[in-house]
Amino acid sequence: MSNLATFANWLDNMTATSIHANTTGPYETRIKALLDKMTLAEKVGQLTQFSGFHDVTGPAPSDWRAAQKHHLLQSGVIGSMLNVVGTEDVLNYQKYAVENSRLGIPMMFAYDVIHGQKTMCPIPLAEAASWDLKLIEKSARIAAIEAAAQGLNWTFAPMVDVSREPRWGRVMEGAGEDPYLGSRIAEARVKGFQGDDLSADDTILATIKHFAAYGFAEAGKEYNTAEIGTTTLYNMVLPPFDAALRNANPRSVMNAFNTVNGIPATGDMALQRDWLKGNRGFDGVVVSDWGSALEMIAHGFVANEREAAKVAILAGSDVDMESYVYLDHLESLVESGEVDEVIIDDAVRRVLRVKFELGLFDDPYRYIDPAREQERLFTESHLDTALEMARKSIVLLKNEHNALPLSGDKKIALIGALAVDQDAPLGNWRAHAQAHSAMSVMDGFNEVELDYIYSYGVAVQHGDSHFEHPVHVNYDNRDGFDEAVATAQEADQVVLVVGETARMSGEGRSRADIGLPGLQQELLEAIHAVNPKIVLVVMGGRPLVLSWAHAHVPAIVYAWHLGHRSGRAIVDVLTGEENPSGKLPMNFPRSVGQIPIYYNHLNTGRPGPRNEVTWAHYSDVENTPLFPFGYGLSYAWFEYSELATHVESDHVAVSFVVKNTSHRDGEEVAQLYIRDRVAGIARPVKELKGFEKAHLSAGESKRFDMKLGRDELGYFNGQGTFVIEPGEFDVFVGGSSDTALNAVFSLSKEHITSFAVK
Ligand code: BGC
Repeated sequence: MSNLATFANWLDNMTATSIHANTTGPYETRIKALLDKMTLAEKVGQLTQFSGFHDVTGPAPSDWRAAQKHHLLQSGVIGSMLNVVGTEDVLNYQKYAVENSRLGIPMMFAYDVIHGQKTMCPIPLAEAASWDLKLIEKSARIAAIEAAAQGLNWTFAPMVDVSREPRWGRVMEGAGEDPYLGSRIAEARVKGFQGDDLSADDTILATIKHFAAYGFAEAGKEYNTAEIGTTTLYNMVLPPFDAALRNANPRSVMNAFNTVNGIPATGDMALQRDWLKGNRGFDGVVVSDWGSALEMIAHGFVANEREAAKVAILAGSDVDMESYVYLDHLESLVESGEVDEVIIDDAVRRVLRVKFELGLFDDPYRYIDPAREQERLFTESHLDTALEMARKSIVLLKNEHNALPLSGDKKIALIGALAVDQDAPLGNWRAHAQAHSAMSVMDGFNEVELDYIYSYGVAVQHGDSHFEHPVHVNYDNRDGFDEAVATAQEADQVVLVVGETARMSGEGRSRADIGLPGLQQELLEAIHAVNPKIVLVVMGGRPLVLSWAHAHVPAIVYAWHLGHRSGRAIVDVLTGEENPSGKLPMNFPRSVGQIPIYYNHLNTGRPGPRNEVTWAHYSDVENTPLFPFGYGLSYAWFEYSELATHVESDHVAVSFVVKNTSHRDGEEVAQLYIRDRVAGIARPVKELKGFEKAHLSAGESKRFDMKLGRDELGYFNGQGTFVIEPGEFDVFVGGSSDTALNAVFSLSKEHITSFAVK
């Protein structure tokens, strides 16, 4: 059966409840009154989103489309725009909508506000490494305050795509490989963006994206196919969407470019109409990704633009971003009876609903105040939050013989192009941050008046790189090598800063080899040959393969892209002013060949390790990652003890003690994992089900009490039904997924019944 036949079938059986309309909310009467006045063309306008001219975040339209776009915007019939930023421009466009259109329906203005608007916090993957949900929420909050001050009221964030693919460039934009951590972070970010009152002048709509499975791009190649089993879909991919929907009420969801098991996400009725809008009762807006409706033609899922429009709207994609297919075809599809107007009305209602919630019908200019724009951007307090977030995001990967913190009396050689780079720390998806405006590592050294001699070493890339252009990695210019080696030779201690520049990760920035880019590995080895006392500071928008460094260098600090106050945060960790507390949100592989490597894998029938050839392993590299999920060192040491479990009437209580056995105060992220030993489908060898970040003074012991409830102990079967089964469970606790202690508890049938009831 063709796709269109499937949809026709659905359409025939459609009832008023199939579209799951919300008819009782606070604005529904006003929405209906407005809808009753709208012509079909006006409705289609509300379902069309155009890009403005500040940023091109997808393929640019042809000249005639651009002209058509101008004309339609000026007539005021378009529902929303992206990439228009700043009160002056937003005001111009909003005036068109309010003054030139028949009904004066205000527009919404969206932008990719991912880790800050003007003040950059760390990239999302780095923030995830903090495991600090309050701080992550605060980071999203200041991003929303700044975005709203620039006239915006909608962000296309957070990206909640779980990904096991460090080759995929957009891994920088998510929370890593784990659905539990990803769920908590998704909730925190949505709450931060949306605040308590969407109609306030400093809150904006959040968008959970990309729905669904974009992070499972095969081989990490951008936009690639996602082929995943239903158990992976339900247990790994959907949970962060589900958690955000249940606990934080995001008002928008963006679908995805990719196919999921052969169906383009934008045309996927089971995902959007059945799961999201039906099963989960989502009554906000589903926006397509840039041109994703049109791209269903290239996928071979529809034959032409008209079919693309039909399939996308029927599947539940409400707003068309930059495909132009709704604009060109929806009216005639309704007139021919191929699309019931009820479907259009439902989509329009969603758009109007969020406009009411934003307060735009009370005041279309609510977000537009030039004075606020002056006051609320790049403030000292926002920069302080950026610094705090950056400090907490750094992960100390190795620290042999206490190479760190640096001791004051040593002669330090600071080496590396990235040590003076004021742009790389801003990372990709940097919204309206000014290029080259971050604090470099050298700036950080200067701010705390730390002595050093500096040498550039080697350029990471040729020239600057902008969003639209590829990065030209430097593979040939070794001019700075000799000087850097000589500088290292003279010093007691080398601080070598290496890694990726800002545009080496992000959309369209997949890499097949995720070692240190260009000649940096060669430089590292050359320096090591004359002075092995190296503290390696690594910047990156993804996990990198650092096996050589790990084998040869005493200390490694993972510094991601940490935003505006990067340099200071890094130096605070190097000097011990800040005791590092970050933990990895993804495994770091030993070798690219291990990818996908993730901690919550299944066991295989031959798990080993054994002294034989026939077990699940590689013959040239270990099975384990170089650094596991949840891992990160501190200058303090923590010891776990007294693990106990107790099955209560509606949960399992887990308690344990963590002691700071060192002479330094520090923070530890205590992590709780389980394994369901025998189940209806094979379950992972470990799954994170709880964590708490706590401050422990030197010598202090703290008891942690955590609960495993129904949500944590059950799982989704292949049909998407949540089940919780009796039997034995392992419970593990520790400071990483390589846990310290374990215990076992059993759930009886009676327990399950009482768990299920509550
Ligand atoms: C990205 C989206 C983004 C959109 C608008 C697309 O290329 O995939 O995540 O929100 O552009 O900029």
